[in-house]
Amino acid sequence: MVINTRRTLLKKTGLLGIGLLAHQLPLASNQCLLTPQQTEGPFYPLQFPQDQNNDLTLIEGHSQPAKGEMIMIKGRVLIDGCQPIKGAKVEIWQACTSGRYNHDYDGNPAPLDPNFQYWGYGTTDDDGQYSFITVKPGSYPVTRDWQRPPHIHFKVTAPTLSPLITQLYFSEETELNQKDRILGRVPPQKKELVITQLIFDNSLKKRVGQFNIILGQSLANNVTPEIV
Ligand SMILES: [Fe+2]
Repeated sequence: MVINTRRTLLKKTGLLGIGLLAHQLPLASNQCLLTPQQTEGPFYPLQFPQDQNNDLTLIEGHSQPAKGEMIMIKGRVLIDGCQPIKGAKVEIWQACTSGRYNHDYDGNPAPLDPNFQYWGYGTTDDDGQYSFITVKPGSYPVTRDWQRPPHIHFKVTAPTLSPLITQLYFSEETELNQKDRILGRVPPQKKELVITQLIFDNSLKKRVGQFNIILGQSLANNVTPEIV
């Protein structure tokens, strides 16, 4: 059985129990830790784009793609116990490559990208899998001494389960990640669950980050929200 093989391999290699990045999270590990909740922030869309899909880099009718590095984020949505959730709605929203949100409340003077979709959604398949094509978001200032690291906001909703709102970060942004006040509120043992490593995929010709999302039955895994 695949599960046992993976566990055996992890045991043999001594990787079981070691903190792993999101892309390395073994689905059959003995943890299957619940993904920590993080604040929704002020930039969830007030209005949704006409083009509603899981490719944020191309807007229907536009001849130009979005600016910035095109990346793929993919993973599985699972329930506590590592069972896949079919038909979960996964939404993402984020800043464009300049660090600007397409939102009335964003006072950042960085330029908007008219060819970036800013929000998208997908639905998980039988195996709980989802994927997005997007651009790596830029960082942006919150206060004079606080620059948010590049991150992608996620909202996952599935029938009969509490919705999960969280944010995904990038392992290459160590310095900003370490100083971030939102990521800083995630319990230390869960931080690596929301940090992905982008790895170049030769066939896709882009870097890919894995992010598995584990939903609990309740909101007991909440992190106290902070207003940002
Ligand atoms: Fe944000």
